[in-house]
Amino acid sequence: MSEYPVIIQGGMGIGVSNWRLAQAVSRTGQLGVVSGTALDQILVRRLQDGDPQGHMRRGLDAFPFPAMAERVWRAYFIAGGKAHTEPYRVAGSLTKDNPRHLVELCMVSNFVEVFLAREGHKNPVGINYMEKIQTAHLPSIYGAMLAGVRYVVMGAGIPLKIPGVLDRLAQHQPVEYNLHVTGGLEGDDFTMHFDPHEFMEQEMVPLTRPGFLPIVSSNTLASTMLKKANGQVDGLVVEMQTAGGHNAPPRGKLQLSEAGEPIYGERDAVDIAELCELGVPFWLAGGYGHPEKLREALSQGATGVQVGTAFEFAEESGLREDYKQLLMAKAVVGNGHVFTDPVASPTGFPFKVARLEGTYSEPEDYAARPRICDLGFLREPYRTPEGGIGYRCAAEPLSLYLAKGGKAEEAVGRKCLCNALMANVGYPQVRNGQRVEQGIVTTGDDLNSVPRFLSQGRSHYTAAEVVEALLHGYPEDPEQNRECGFLLQTTIA
Ligand SMILES: Cc1cc2nc3c(=O)[nH]c(=O)nc-3n(C[C@H](O)[C@H](O)[C@H](O)COP(=O)(O)O)c2cc1C
Repeated sequence: MSEYPVIIQGGMGIGVSNWRLAQAVSRTGQLGVVSGTALDQILVRRLQDGDPQGHMRRGLDAFPFPAMAERVWRAYFIAGGKAHTEPYRVAGSLTKDNPRHLVELCMVSNFVEVFLAREGHKNPVGINYMEKIQTAHLPSIYGAMLAGVRYVVMGAGIPLKIPGVLDRLAQHQPVEYNLHVTGGLEGDDFTMHFDPHEFMEQEMVPLTRPGFLPIVSSNTLASTMLKKANGQVDGLVVEMQTAGGHNAPPRGKLQLSEAGEPIYGERDAVDIAELCELGVPFWLAGGYGHPEKLREALSQGATGVQVGTAFEFAEESGLREDYKQLLMAKAVVGNGHVFTDPVASPTGFPFKVARLEGTYSEPEDYAARPRICDLGFLREPYRTPEGGIGYRCAAEPLSLYLAKGGKAEEAVGRKCLCNALMANVGYPQVRNGQRVEQGIVTTGDDLNSVPRFLSQGRSHYTAAEVVEALLHGYPEDPEQNRECGFLLQTTIA
């Protein structure tokens, strides 16, 4: 195989790209990627569910600092699992200066996910982070590196300072990262610090520095990353606005279609020929989960494609089974409907939402949910009048948000993605012993093409079948796109 994968399985947070999915993809020789978003909270919920198959315990046993792993286990593990009516205990929300136990939780949880994804094969595994969720970065990346992560893939922001962090963490050196604080003034110091030596229980040899692949949505950002990053950028993932998850907003003033979706124009188009001139490998993402789209990307000079939605519906993904089946049933009859919601995400980025009855995609279901903010992954750090840092979320209770200087118009239409995304992957919070948080499923625009991966008479497909289909054509027509296989072999060899 060449140095680079042809297919990157996109990082899908929270917990959709879990270790099982990434392992299944990496086993095929393509790049499996775990989502690094909120792994701290995912691990504590898996432990409170009693870790029924012992996978978390196995991951913890492999952690190089055993006393730390034990502290995490003791703090959260419930033998036999919590009762269904009991709420999960929530680990504290992350801030600029985290207490030691939360720093440890970030390190340990990121280690475990990558360790498990790497089990049983020797192929590379990547991890995906959102730049915007900055308070978790430093210990999380270190934890993933302790587990031998081969690529760090990062979107939702401009991660110019991550390459330098990777260089230093590989040597176990102290690192820092600037927290973006709304309203920050010149002279304010909002630098976050992390020194591995404060946590190491033994001396260690240097770690492998993972390759760094920022996710960009424009030629300008692509060249900025290459020119201005403080260390090596090893390639680019170039994501179009058809992709699942968060999308880059359109350039210029936001205009909405009649249906209320952002309108993208010519200025948002990526010039692929120009990307080729940058001289680094790149992967195209957003509607590229088709053999013919892979072939097109390769013919345009891309190294390959990053695919999300097709893997989201694979057996191994973390998306809960009932949501998978209900959405698949809609897609089979061409009835899947994906709405690019300009306001749902507290990040302010457009967010794709698949319509599904009984989930918070439906306005009446969401309206019945009291505004509660208890996870806070997407909180916005802001400068308090005293010069400190406060944290607010546009989806939190309105009175609190306003008291923190938030603007009422910013809160309109916002949804609690944190709780919904945890519910999507089977860890819904239970409130007052009865009300269970529902999910909000995000998929790419081409949700309706997902059933093409199903072999006749089957209602499931595996990640390996997606890889096989992308490289050689869909199951119902195995001869189709054979030339694609040839092209790939010449690319891979
Ligand atoms: C369920 C889902 C969750 C996603 N979450 C993230 C994420 O947390 N971070 C990220 O960089 N991209 C995320 N993405 C984007 C994917 O990594 C990938 O780039 C995208 O899905 C490719 O487009 P496609 O869905 O048309 O295949 C997500 C996509 C989906 C479908």
